[in-house]
Amino acid sequence: MLQKPLGDSGEMISEIGQGTWDYHGGVESLRLGVTLGATHVDTAEMYGTETTVGKAIKDIRDKVFLATKVSPQHLHQKDVIKAAEGSLKHLDTQVLDLYMIHWPNSNIPIKETMKAMEELVHDGKVKHIGVSNFSVHDMEEAQRAMSSEKIVSNQIQYNLANRSPEVDVIPYCKKEKITVVAYSPLSRGAVSRKKDEVLDKLASKHGKTKAQIALNFLTREEHVVAIPKANSLDHVKENCAASGWRLSKEDIALIDEHFR
Ligand SMILES: NC(=O)c1ccc[n+]([C@@H]2O[C@H](COP(=O)([O-])OP(=O)(O)OC[C@H]3O[C@@H](n4cnc5c(N)ncnc54)[C@H](OP(=O)(O)O)[C@@H]3O)[C@@H](O)[C@H]2O)c1
Repeated sequence: MLQKPLGDSGEMISEIGQGTWDYHGGVESLRLGVTLGATHVDTAEMYGTETTVGKAIKDIRDKVFLATKVSPQHLHQKDVIKAAEGSLKHLDTQVLDLYMIHWPNSNIPIKETMKAMEELVHDGKVKHIGVSNFSVHDMEEAQRAMSSEKIVSNQIQYNLANRSPEVDVIPYCKKEKITVVAYSPLSRGAVSRKKDEVLDKLASKHGKTKAQIALNFLTREEHVVAIPKANSLDHVKENCAASGWRLSKEDIALIDEHFR
């Protein structure tokens, strides 16, 4: 499993992680994923999966890069602190490696939220601050609102059916050394279900599956990682093996042209 830098924090994270929205795979699938190197485990207070994640990683906590999110209705100062404490309890851990704002909320001043995020870092409850579903403008505002911390990541929807982040968010993140975490990277499973001549051709050329081709393409840049969700053990294995090799320039150009 290839490791990639987390923003400019100096920390490295796995190129392929594990999402847990609508996750029902119990502790087994997550633990297998960590064993195979998908150590970046993503959850959120909103998903209702923090307790399962906590149980799955209890005795392997030191191997895991643990990421969770505060819900958009909890972005007032006191609510952020309370939500983080709830997540720490559910995840049964002392510290969150990455704490993200799940969605922006224009009704709550961003300054208040980011101050609370910084407070969590200063109190040792959070290591790194991230955002999710933030536009370039949202990221600029959030960064300006902080005095001592840097945003390390932005988790966004990025898949072959939605490459719109390539227009602005992904280049901005590259320039600012912010890691892009691609969610729904398999288009919620559709990428494997649909027939597609280019993906089929590349899959057979590389002896890989369409899901692996898609994940490898999406993570072709140094600052992009992906967090597919897999309930099944076979899918976990398959997703982990999407890393550690690279599509050629010609393959990338073919996909690029085909999925415009
Ligand atoms: N920040 C946000 O607002 C936000 C929003 C959505 C998602 N997310 C995060 O991103 C994660 C992933 O996104 P997602 O769950 O929406 O969709 P996804 O990862 O694109 O797709 C998940 C679906 O793909 C299937 N799958 C997994 N690996 C596969 C493989 N190798 N071959 C074929 N099918 C495969 C899964 O099946 P099985 O489960 O049956 O194995 C599941 O049905 C979420 O779990 C969550 O952590 C964040």
